[in-house]
Amino acid sequence: MLNPRLSQLPAYPFERLRALLKGITPLAGLSPISMSVGEPRHPSPKVFLDALRAAEEEFSNYPTTQGGVELRGAIAAWLTRRFHLPTVDPETQVVPCSGTREALFSVAQALTGVPGKDLVLLPNPFYQIYEGAALWAGATPHYVPATEASGLLPDFAGLPEAILDRAALVYLCTPGNPTGRVMDREYLQQMIRLAHRHGFVLVSDECYSEIYPDENSPPCGLLEAAAAMGHGDYRGCLAMHSLSKRSNLPGARSGFVAGDATILAAYLRLRTYFGCTTPPPIQRAAAAAWGDEAHVRANRDEYRKKFARVLEELAPVLPVTAPDAGFYLWTRVPGGGEAFAQRVFERCNITVLPGSYLSRLVDGVHPGAEYVRMALVDSVEQCAEAARRIRSVV
Ligand SMILES: Cc1ncc(COP(=O)(O)O)c(C=O)c1O
Repeated sequence: MLNPRLSQLPAYPFERLRALLKGITPLAGLSPISMSVGEPRHPSPKVFLDALRAAEEEFSNYPTTQGGVELRGAIAAWLTRRFHLPTVDPETQVVPCSGTREALFSVAQALTGVPGKDLVLLPNPFYQIYEGAALWAGATPHYVPATEASGLLPDFAGLPEAILDRAALVYLCTPGNPTGRVMDREYLQQMIRLAHRHGFVLVSDECYSEIYPDENSPPCGLLEAAAAMGHGDYRGCLAMHSLSKRSNLPGARSGFVAGDATILAAYLRLRTYFGCTTPPPIQRAAAAAWGDEAHVRANRDEYRKKFARVLEELAPVLPVTAPDAGFYLWTRVPGGGEAFAQRVFERCNITVLPGSYLSRLVDGVHPGAEYVRMALVDSVEQCAEAARRIRSVV
């Protein structure tokens, strides 16, 4: 017998993409290019690898759930610098995680189950973990459209009071996957006021926050918005960050949750039971990576070049616009996302992700159906080549 909730978890987008493309043979002579998975392919930073090698003996120790003081200290220092925070207490306001995916999923189990608080609010389209997290926790996902009509941002503030009252938590994603939109300070502060008024927790997924076009205007974060309102205790706020995209380390499985100390204390207790810890050598290397910005700036330079080249190629044939931040192009395509994905696979040997796999049909609106998501994760030349091929078939 299996847990009946398992059958509620939808097939993951990449499984659906494989099924969509099954039986299609790409045109011969073209090397494959993947733009479907958001896996950064720039080299991992030397500062991380050197620290990892120096700490390899430490695999012989069990890591604690809370992680070592060196890593939490490096994270707190990074947060303070990056988001102009008054203080972040590494003892109580930072919890390392094995990449943000598991934390985004498991945090719902800590924040749901209160009578009358049966909803988890999430944007639509969305990173698929939010929905699975809500369903597995026994809550009901409530999808809030992020369409062109709402500037590609979810209008949580426009929801009826009765819905907001039933919310246990709200997932924010800024910069957004897949939309690339950034929630600015005013937006985040409005969400904080709503969270306090209606008694829900904000979980802000900020794993793309370090990939932005203008060195002088990094995206605002939830903790930054809270501190600027005088909420230095980050009440009701959790922000999640990761080395996966910032530092091209998706295989290191290293990120963190930071914010409200009361929530984190309870969440830490839950985490000791399911046991996602960060191996000691990875902790050392992660601490070094959070302490270095040179590799992150170099990374942004690469993405800038890619967006410039790809947008130049595609702008004449598709309604593409640069994202506020992140490495995705979220664009409307002729004939709808699935047909377009099949066509570029067959004619260009390129995989892109149909937008409908990242959104749900709610009240007759399927926000991603006309879109595809293209991840600019390959090299500048490969991304430019992909754009040339796509242009030639549109
Ligand atoms: C929006 C978003 N959040 C979180 C993650 C998870 O990243 P990680 O678990 O590597 O930190 C991803 C990965 O693609 C993502 O796109």
